[in-house]
Amino acid sequence: MKQHIEETLELLSKRGIKKPKIGLILGSGLGVLADEIQHSIKVPYQDIPHFPISTVAGHAGQLVFGELEGQSVIAMSGRFHYYEGYSLEAVTYPVRVFKALGVEQLIVTNAAGGVNTDFNAGDLMIISDHINNMYQNPLMGANDPELGERFPDMSSAYSEKLRSLAKNEAAKLQLNVQEGVYVANTGPCYETPAEVRMIRTIGGDAVGMSTVPEVIVARHSNMEVLGISCISNMAAGILPQPLTHSEVIETTEAVKADFMELVKSIIREMI
Ligand code: 6GU
Repeated sequence: MKQHIEETLELLSKRGIKKPKIGLILGSGLGVLADEIQHSIKVPYQDIPHFPISTVAGHAGQLVFGELEGQSVIAMSGRFHYYEGYSLEAVTYPVRVFKALGVEQLIVTNAAGGVNTDFNAGDLMIISDHINNMYQNPLMGANDPELGERFPDMSSAYSEKLRSLAKNEAAKLQLNVQEGVYVANTGPCYETPAEVRMIRTIGGDAVGMSTVPEVIVARHSNMEVLGISCISNMAAGILPQPLTHSEVIETTEAVKADFMELVKSIIREMI
């Protein structure tokens, strides 16, 4: 892995990527935030050695490096999902690269289904904790002690400091944000109503198909993490209508402006 990371860094440095402080992983429909990055250097994933090879024809995504609200950032516009068939090691490789570039704080975002019946489609949720329900872990296999410890502590995976900063900034913007536990399933199908009841019973407030692997690797790498979910729809069995991917897209489209304002104001205040 170390050899691979070095080769990846070599290409990124050739393209002019320096030392970002903040990493961003932008979820479905939230990639527009990368367009706000100033003096940007964009590197398509297919140009980056050892990045996973996209299974989707066309645009797999890109890294966008530059300045956002006066801070040096690097964003993944488009992420890799386990349900696409990648190993979790491949899914989380970009997080290893972020760490090697010097990233100290990671903001992960996603679109998720609302499980808590107090939530509504269009809400933003600060992630307080997660449940890994993927029956797989990105740290399985031999551990490289230079990357992190064998048995990393997950007691405060989502930084208390960044969560309270996020809530403060939301209040300043008069945005009503929720806070709760994100459950990661593999997907790609959405849950059944019975599975959604189970998720609620085990303590989940929102459910999605990403984020947890990246956060596990970020914590293994000792990065500070903030997670934000956009509740794009209510999970199955809560509302009468079936779930559609187009609803997910439409809702994220509608809350995108609030989401961008919130993340930008958080980044402005991050130290
Ligand atoms: Cl309802 N479930 C999962 N697993 N992922 C989602 C979702 C639901 N809504 C958006 N993403």
